[in-house]
Amino acid sequence: MSAPRATRNPHLLGIEGLDRSFIEALFELAREHKRAVASGTPRTPLAGRAVANLFFEDSTRTRTSFEIAAKTMGAEVLNWTVAGSSVSKGESLLDTAKNVDAIGPGAIIIRHSSSGAALLVSRYVRCSVINAGDGAHEHPSQALLDAFTLQDRFGTLEGKRVLIAGDILHSRVARSNIYCLRLLGAEVLVSGPPTLIPRDIEMLGCKVAPSFRSAVEMADAVMMLRLQAERQPDQAFPSAREYAAHWGLTGALAQQMKDGAVVLHPGPVNRGVELSPEVADGVRSTILDQVANGVAIRMAILETFAW
Ligand code: CP
Repeated sequence: MSAPRATRNPHLLGIEGLDRSFIEALFELAREHKRAVASGTPRTPLAGRAVANLFFEDSTRTRTSFEIAAKTMGAEVLNWTVAGSSVSKGESLLDTAKNVDAIGPGAIIIRHSSSGAALLVSRYVRCSVINAGDGAHEHPSQALLDAFTLQDRFGTLEGKRVLIAGDILHSRVARSNIYCLRLLGAEVLVSGPPTLIPRDIEMLGCKVAPSFRSAVEMADAVMMLRLQAERQPDQAFPSAREYAAHWGLTGALAQQMKDGAVVLHPGPVNRGVELSPEVADGVRSTILDQVANGVAIRMAILETFAW
């Protein structure tokens, strides 16, 4: 299978604006990479190329899985982080990106605390830009790996009910997932403290669930999100303990879920707050499948965009 060429835009800035056939072709490519890696014969379409990880915010999963994905396909990887860079001497985002671009990578993979940072950089560099999370805007590779994991589990997302619960207001994962899951035919519900639900969220195509508990009981998949403390100047909830009591997915509540229903979390998990340890490590949890699938999805993304 050949990569689904990004004909309209050589960048992956968000799920908004993508179409279903593009995502399905990307999933097919990810499946092909997964099979090839499992059989010990990975394809190396990026041999002789380089990609640059440009992370202005911390990351465990996204940065390392893009790195493994790129290296498995034969690319060199430039790992740039704020610590140790010339940002400490006052170099701007754009100057940093333009200088990294001048080194000649096929793609810059960028994470930044500002919504729109990836779009801004894409206007000033020659290579492709892949958004690895920009503020509370989008995290497209996360949504793609989440939807891919659900499709693997259920066969199709058509008609499945997915609940996204927690800090929706500050979550780029929630926004990207709402777009992606809706495109693939799922019904999407959101739930969380009223202070953490954007007023216009239903305009994205989801519904606000009237009750967290009943939404958990009706869902085929429950995606729990952590409180994004780094994006909350004023704490929107009195304490982690109260949050856990009202909005946490406990073992007792998880027992009320439908047969075969699954629990997702993009990580990092705050155990005992949004998710109890027994659920995070339990039979419904797809957390480590999500991480593993992240490599295959990012291989497909890089093959498609890093050219
Ligand atoms: N899900 C996610 O983006 O994790 P990291 O912050 O570890 O990359």
